[in-house]
Amino acid sequence: MDRQRVLSGMRPTGRLHLGNWMGALASWVELQEAHECFFMVADWHALTTGYQDTTGLRDNIREMVLDWLAAGLDPERSVLFRQSEVKEHAELHLILSMVTPLSWLERVPTYKEQLRELNGRDLATYGFLGYPLLQAADILAYRATRVPVGEDQLPHLELTREVVRRFNHLFGEVFPEPAGTLHRAAVLPGVDGRKMSKSYGNFIALTADPEEVRTKVQAMVTDPRRIHRADPGRPEVCDVFVFHRLFNAENAEQIAADCRGARIGCVQCKKLMAARLNEVLEPVRRRRAALEEDPELVERILEAGAVRARREAAATLRLVRQAVGL
Ligand code: TRP
Ligand code: SF4
Repeated sequence: MDRQRVLSGMRPTGRLHLGNWMGALASWVELQEAHECFFMVADWHALTTGYQDTTGLRDNIREMVLDWLAAGLDPERSVLFRQSEVKEHAELHLILSMVTPLSWLERVPTYKEQLRELNGRDLATYGFLGYPLLQAADILAYRATRVPVGEDQLPHLELTREVVRRFNHLFGEVFPEPAGTLHRAAVLPGVDGRKMSKSYGNFIALTADPEEVRTKVQAMVTDPRRIHRADPGRPEVCDVFVFHRLFNAENAEQIAADCRGARIGCVQCKKLMAARLNEVLEPVRRRRAALEEDPELVERILEAGAVRARREAAATLRLVRQAVGL
């Protein structure tokens, strides 16, 4: 596969959970093996919905980046940086805003959805409407060709490509059209049957301790029609089995067969899952604990990353200014 320029970002939500790990983070760690990667803490993005309370922002950034490192992102290979430290994103966002019809932003599906879902927060702001375009600027500042995202983010990639076509048509070929690629793992269920999400409070943290992992796995939703131990189960509708497939692949077929044949009970099946999960998480917890010993580590990494990111973004912005005639 040819080497591509990859950019992706995450809002600083603090400690990550298994859904973030199996989704974005695992693909990032994999991509950094073969590609030139820029991974960004989207702190300006956090302000688009969370501007009223920013007290946790700094801590959330540190906690999230520690989890990135514990999960295997390598700051030597990949450029890890904070969006707000590379002002070129803001300049490009401004320039792109001149050529982006308002209707393109208004019809981004996440816009109306989030307005509805996050009621209680005042989101009738300019920043909230414009944040998909800020995301386009994040990507285009590096002329990235590949953007790993979750499914909910695909409309933002579509918008980015439309903006690229319009910009290039007006000012000449400056940007490549970036391709969005989906994370390999499907959405992970949380402990209440809904999608695992920080905002639902139904998550298992990447660095949850062994006891917490056991308690949370015990709470997970299984086949609702399997009421008695002797009832045959349906692993294909069971959230615990989703975990077995992901974290315990080599035993999953056996467990599925035992479940269908009522040879294993749900309590035992969950115990196996929790033990397996703890085995998988142990090295991550250990790395994280070691990384925490150095209180300046994250700051150092993000500052060094910002220097590298700025260099690339500055080169793009020189081309952009020239193309636009500034
Ligand atoms: N908007 C993305 C999210 O909420 C985060 C993000 C910001 C991003 N800038 C990006 C993702 C650029 C990919 C590329 O998840
Ligand atoms: Fe799910 Fe395991 Fe129970 Fe089957 S035995 S329903 S896979 S928890």
